[in-house]
Amino acid sequence: MTDSANTAPAQDHVLIFDTTLRDGEQSPGATMTHDEKLEIAEMLDDMGVDIIEAGFPIASEGDFNAVKEIAERSKNSVICGLSRANFKDIDRCFEAVKHAAQPRIHTFIGTSPLHRAIPNLSKDEMAEKIHETVTHARNLCDNVQWSPMDALRTEHDYLFRVIEIAIKAGATTINIPDTVGYTIPRESADLIAKIRENVPGADEVIFATHCHNDLGMATANSLAAVEAGARQIECTINGLGERAGNTALEEVVMALKVRNDTMPYRTGIDTTKIMGLSRRVAAVSGFNVQFNKAIVGKNAFAHESGIHQDGMLKNAETFEIMRPEDVGIAGTSLPLGKHSGRAALRSKMTELGFDLADNQLNDLFVRFKELADRKKEVFDDDIIALVQVEAGQA
Ligand code: KIV
Ligand code: ZN
Repeated sequence: MTDSANTAPAQDHVLIFDTTLRDGEQSPGATMTHDEKLEIAEMLDDMGVDIIEAGFPIASEGDFNAVKEIAERSKNSVICGLSRANFKDIDRCFEAVKHAAQPRIHTFIGTSPLHRAIPNLSKDEMAEKIHETVTHARNLCDNVQWSPMDALRTEHDYLFRVIEIAIKAGATTINIPDTVGYTIPRESADLIAKIRENVPGADEVIFATHCHNDLGMATANSLAAVEAGARQIECTINGLGERAGNTALEEVVMALKVRNDTMPYRTGIDTTKIMGLSRRVAAVSGFNVQFNKAIVGKNAFAHESGIHQDGMLKNAETFEIMRPEDVGIAGTSLPLGKHSGRAALRSKMTELGFDLADNQLNDLFVRFKELADRKKEVFDDDIIALVQVEAGQA
């Protein structure tokens, strides 16, 4: 499902806005080539991402061309470009996104005291600028997203005032960014709830949550915002993004799927495409995924200890809350190491085509433990070599 302008999604539908190609690429060193961006955009579209933020068209000729071509090739997703709060940026953004079947202009300005000090604008001057720029964007495009950057550190009365101005000027989505990853889940939820209670016209727009991960709480903060009424989550593949990154798409999508019992919301994401995208984004950005990263880390569905392996062999639900196949991974892995037990070794031997009697397995197990004490991980070839040595000695 997409969010064509002014149409509210079903109450339980959470729109997924992917900004891997914009906020993700702003991560120092993560620059992608034109062709890589097109490839990732195609994969995101195919996966069911509702809105793709394809870039920041005024930033460079290359970014403009990438956003334009992504817009031309888009199939189902809304294609969005970012622009600062000035007419030149907004015009350039529209020039790029207008080629999409469903274009969106995203314009923003920093509203917190620290951010207001940079352009040295008074509150009234900034309010006027918001009115002018959102009106201008809306005259070009009927799908306009507005963001008060650093919303979580903006005075509430001022935040409510400028959100109302943006809504009256025609914004269809209001994004609430935790730009510096400062908030905590309770605060994230409270702010969305207060905005919905206090801002006239709040019922006519979609609220988005955009969290950074500086305190490791981006996923929790995004989900808390959804529980308080936000219906768009802004996120990136592998949590790529400025500093400690953005909310990870795979985490919020799988949390909503796995904990649908307590968070009854759905997304349109085909979760079986998650792993493919994760690997591709890691490859093109050059940012490896940490082994223990939730959902997409190498160890997310791997179990080494004997107790866990035994449990997994009897019933996968013992130690896994989701199926690896649901995120595009072929299956659970039971790597052998010094913590592994007999059950896993027997299962490995069967998988490798060896039918060992109990006494043979017991002998092998002793030798395997000796080896595992010396090696971090014991591979299939190591085990085969152990069996062959054993057979040679017999
Ligand atoms: O983090 C942020 O505030 C942003 C805005 C441009 C939405 O990325
Ligand atoms: Zn951001």
